[in-house]
Amino acid sequence: MPQIDRPHMSFDEFDEINYPRPARTDFDRIVERALTRRSFLTNGVAYGIGAFVMATAGLAPKVARAASRIGFRAVAANSGDIVTVPDGYSWHIVAKWGEPLWSNGIAFDQTTRGTGESQELAFGDNTDGMELYSVDDRHILAVNCEYTNLEIIYGGRESGKPEGPDDVRKGKAAHGVTICEIAQKDGRWSIVKDSPFNRRITADTTMEITGPARGHDLLKTAADPSGTTSLGTWNNCGSGQTPWGTFLTCEENFNGYFSSSDESYVPSAELTRYGIGNEDWGYGWASADERFDISKHPNEPNRAGYVVEIDPMDPTSTPKKRTALGRFKHENAEVVVAANGHAVVYLGDDERGEFIYRFVSDGRYVIGGDNSDLLETGKLYVAKFHDDQRGEWIELTPASTGMSSQAEIAILTRQAASAVGATTMDRPEWVAVNPTRVEAYCALTNNAKRGVGPNAGGDPMPVGGPNPREANDYGQIVRWRPDDADHTATGFAWDLFVLAGNPSVHADAYAGSSNVNADNLFNSPDGLAFDANGMLWIQTDGNYSNEGNFAGMGNNQMLVADTETGEIKRFLVGPNECEITGLTWSPDRKTLFVGVQHPGEMGDSHFPGGGATVPRSSVVAVTRDDGAPLA
Ligand code: FEO
Ligand code: CA
Ligand code: CA
Repeated sequence: MPQIDRPHMSFDEFDEINYPRPARTDFDRIVERALTRRSFLTNGVAYGIGAFVMATAGLAPKVARAASRIGFRAVAANSGDIVTVPDGYSWHIVAKWGEPLWSNGIAFDQTTRGTGESQELAFGDNTDGMELYSVDDRHILAVNCEYTNLEIIYGGRESGKPEGPDDVRKGKAAHGVTICEIAQKDGRWSIVKDSPFNRRITADTTMEITGPARGHDLLKTAADPSGTTSLGTWNNCGSGQTPWGTFLTCEENFNGYFSSSDESYVPSAELTRYGIGNEDWGYGWASADERFDISKHPNEPNRAGYVVEIDPMDPTSTPKKRTALGRFKHENAEVVVAANGHAVVYLGDDERGEFIYRFVSDGRYVIGGDNSDLLETGKLYVAKFHDDQRGEWIELTPASTGMSSQAEIAILTRQAASAVGATTMDRPEWVAVNPTRVEAYCALTNNAKRGVGPNAGGDPMPVGGPNPREANDYGQIVRWRPDDADHTATGFAWDLFVLAGNPSVHADAYAGSSNVNADNLFNSPDGLAFDANGMLWIQTDGNYSNEGNFAGMGNNQMLVADTETGEIKRFLVGPNECEITGLTWSPDRKTLFVGVQHPGEMGDSHFPGGGATVPRSSVVAVTRDDGAPLA
């Protein structure tokens, strides 16, 4: 096996080493790419920024004329090991990795960094998507705990790795979802210990499998011959909140937890399409839990990679895996009720050259009615973007994909989308729907392989359309407006809201669109959410070297964008080596909760404790000093 420096590479890079992508030797593909490049070059920047970045075509004068609707003074980029917010705003820690949820929990131990038992009773690691549920002045926060950094969580071990079953137990318990009541006292929010709402959902929690794939042969395992239940959820990335009050948690890089005890085992093409191979990412789960050994349980990975619906207000409820929303590396799940009452869920598959999906429920949302199983059945579509700024949703059915059943499509969704020729995207991250206009935005975080090679399924990744830059290190945000202002319509118009870039370093399309300037430089947009005023909040998970192509960008950050004028301002900068991800507001909008994930992932942070303390992923509350709402 190749020597893999897992902590210092992305999930995608690891998968590429495990499964080298097919070489692009097909003559047609080369010609196709050349043609795309030629049209890009012929029209130069005008093509990339004038025609495709619709918002910016008339943007500069608009920004100059219109009074800014963004009321704070922008924060400067920086590389400090601290959270920075604008003057007149303050922040404090609400919750952090390893903090006990119950009084029988065990205080976080800086030396051991916890045990299996302490972690099962505590806030999980690597906070990500989160949603707040408020009833009768009680506030329940549901937070994804995406993954763990081995050298941090096992930093108490000389090897920096899990060294036995209890270390694996700790790792599995650090993943999943933390549900906890929070309350504000003297202006500061904190966890309400022993609240009846507090709950940990981990890689071992029993789940029900619902939807078209329920009971399918591909989901049957030794532990569950019926294919209707599964154990656990992990690598929970972005989130979603339904209008009926449930939490959606999205299983993203679920593949990296599986391995094979038999080195000669040859994983099927169905497994390799999802990056599942004989080696895991160092988590070692199969060493203590045989179901993660694919040579013994090859169907187990088919039971992960879904959106899971959880009732955060009922700690006894069984989470439901919603297979109707497809199986891929789910980023988030943005729910909107269309004018005709159908629940629409927009979904991104975050890997280079994967796709954007849309689910439309069969049933209609009824205010005050029983909507609890609206996500059980519906139609699943994938997006095709045309170069003329039009696009369409292609329904994934046995007829359109050539696959044998809707169940198979729900399990092997990537293969279904490839079969219909969906557009390979620059790593779709969060989708956000504008509450003030019928339109949706998706962060396309970056794609170093754009125009260089194919995706994991061998689909070409030509330069063009909403992915206009080769070897795209900066990322962009695409938006679409459904025809007839109807989120269930087949067609849509699209443009690019922003191309991130660096105008101090580049003079071409890598400078970014005209709403990027020296004061708001960023790369790799990831988390996205609209506030109640229709302002778009953008979080980043990118290169924080602050050098070369990324000079002037500083640490990962959060910005606010006015999607009418294109103006973008930096609101927050995170501590060293973190990602800023996950955000939600208190019902009075006076507190903004923000996730600070994996500070010190390369060993250079002591956030939030300072001194020589272990860096800990944390949920941060941001408030205005004058007590006014933030949004
Ligand atoms: Fe978990 Fe695609 O970020
Ligand atoms: Ca993300
Ligand atoms: Ca990310």
